[in-house]
Amino acid sequence: MAPSVAEIQQEQVAPVVAKQVPVVAVPEAATEASADAPARRVRRQIDEEGGTTTAKYPHYLPVYDYDQKYAPLEPFEHVDHGVGADPTFKDLLVEGSKITKLTPATGSEVTGVQLSQLSAAGKDQLALLVAQRKVVAFRDQDFADLPIKDALDFGGYFGRHHIHPTSGAPEGYPEIHLVHRVGSKGELDNFFAGRNSSVAWHSDVSYEAQPPGTTFLYVFDTPETGGDTAFVNQVEAYNRLSPALKQRLHGLKALHSGIEQAEFSHKRGGVVRREPVTHEHPIVRTHPATGEKALYVNSGFTRSIVGFKKEESDALLAFLYAHIARGIDYQTRVRWAPKTVVVWDNRVTAHSAVVDWTTGERRHLARIQPQAERPVETPYVPETEA
Ligand SMILES: [Fe+2]
Repeated sequence: MAPSVAEIQQEQVAPVVAKQVPVVAVPEAATEASADAPARRVRRQIDEEGGTTTAKYPHYLPVYDYDQKYAPLEPFEHVDHGVGADPTFKDLLVEGSKITKLTPATGSEVTGVQLSQLSAAGKDQLALLVAQRKVVAFRDQDFADLPIKDALDFGGYFGRHHIHPTSGAPEGYPEIHLVHRVGSKGELDNFFAGRNSSVAWHSDVSYEAQPPGTTFLYVFDTPETGGDTAFVNQVEAYNRLSPALKQRLHGLKALHSGIEQAEFSHKRGGVVRREPVTHEHPIVRTHPATGEKALYVNSGFTRSIVGFKKEESDALLAFLYAHIARGIDYQTRVRWAPKTVVVWDNRVTAHSAVVDWTTGERRHLARIQPQAERPVETPYVPETEA
């Protein structure tokens, strides 16, 4: 059975407020009261750790502002920087750098490149490289140590920043999405109480009209072993299908929903910063820079196939989810290390955190996730013509 959105939510964001702490029970010190405005309801992770923390980057610990509300997202024109980028990558993979494939089809690791120092041409080539390899881990980066504004300026080159509807964020930087687990036994016991595995494949916020593309995730604290992020190559998942099934999937749309994620956040006393939305997207989308077709359904947010009856939709989606989940020959996983930045293309991948450590270590990361184009489908091309 596909994991629920509630489970995805747990994977994606900091543990939401403990059930026994009602939303209104915000400490006096955590509010911003003035004579003519009611106190803001704010919850800070650092307060829950007693005011001191072992987190290496405390300014990146999540803050939840219950009164922070954002208007519905407006359409915008996305310019994909991978389109027309130099495929020799000469401004990205500079002298002294090294790129190694994690698996033949999916994922690479790069050393000897400092992302924050890239020229515009280098950033364009980064977008193309990531579209081609689907996910690239860059080691020894200064990203986590940059002022948050500088990290956001870098990410903003690739598109309009997405503000996550149910995420905590560093104070004053709502565009940063935080992934945080303290790693305590109680937290893990709670997590596994109703599930066998932590694997929950999803493409981030695919319910948006213009879901994110080139995505940056950088690490602050990570278990010495464990807590990897797994990725599946949705282009290869599409390629493995028979011509008959590929042809059938073309022209179909699926409904993606953010409603359950918002409901889960509400239920757990978390924030909902923007009203949830649903959107229909083509089941096969084409990447603007590579022209590759990718399967664009994920068990986290896809709910149904438009025009199919429930049993038909459930059966076809169940097959596609199983196909995506079992394809270790088109998946890869990234092992985190201090100063690693992982860049993936959210349009052509799905991913899952792997909650497999029991050492009590913290796992703390930040995501910068520019939005991309509204998913586009191009016509089915028979194998003989492809
Ligand atoms: Fe995610």
